[in-house]
Amino acid sequence: MNLSIAMNPKAARGCFITLEGIEGAGKSTHIARLSALLSSLGIAVVTTREPGGSPIAERIRALLLDSVNTGMDDTAELLLMFAARAEHLAKTIRPALDSGAWVLCDRFTDATYAYQGGGRGLNPERIAVLETLVQGDLRPDLTLLFDLEPELGLARARGRGAADRIESEALHFFDAVRAVYRERAYTSPERFCLIDAAAPLSVVGEQAGRALRALVETRLGESADAFGAGATV
Ligand SMILES: Nc1ncnc2c1ncn2[C@@H]1O[C@H](COP(=O)(O)OP(=O)(O)OP(=O)(O)O)[C@@H](O)[C@H]1O
Ligand SMILES: [Mg+2]
Repeated sequence: MNLSIAMNPKAARGCFITLEGIEGAGKSTHIARLSALLSSLGIAVVTTREPGGSPIAERIRALLLDSVNTGMDDTAELLLMFAARAEHLAKTIRPALDSGAWVLCDRFTDATYAYQGGGRGLNPERIAVLETLVQGDLRPDLTLLFDLEPELGLARARGRGAADRIESEALHFFDAVRAVYRERAYTSPERFCLIDAAAPLSVVGEQAGRALRALVETRLGESADAFGAGATV
């Protein structure tokens, strides 16, 4: 049993924030800074990632990313993504949100629409069915989309070493991924913050921090001003 829930049954549910974008866009770089920002505001924060984020989901991640697994069936890939997500939600995300912690998640279901829908060409209506099955009505409160030319993103990511199974896709795959991400941001502007990830790190960080602060202020009202006035990302 989650101790924090038992001790604090009336804790307000935390906010669920996702970071999205293609390889090398800056998600991992900024999730650390945003986590520090929330902590500085006195907000409990859990950072996590997809695919993965819980022991079984991390094992599914290894299957999904291992370049040995060439020729994986597209629907099998889709189902593995949602199998990992079901575990991640059950073991990590929902317990954290229920305890009042804010969750910062490096990729979530928008990535499935972008990669398996855009990149692989799977029907988004089928993805939506799985989304409802696995998540119920849980959706991110805020999604930061780090938008970047695939050429630039892949060049940044390449600096890290050997490409995994997804990173090894051709450029047109990432063009399709990016297009779906952007389309989703335009369709749901109330949830998305679209960030030009080609800008210098400090500018990207400021934009991401501003979007997060706006959510903090909305959720915590006046008290956020009192805590947040001096904090920087
Ligand atoms: N705005 C930026 N300007 C210059 N370099 C950047 C910028 N953002 C990130 N980088 C650099 O690009 C590299 C990739 O960034 P990062 O690992 O954060 O990307 P990512 O979105 O997490 O990628 P992946 O999806 O592959 O995990 C890092 O070396 C990072 O320092
Ligand atoms: Mg990363």
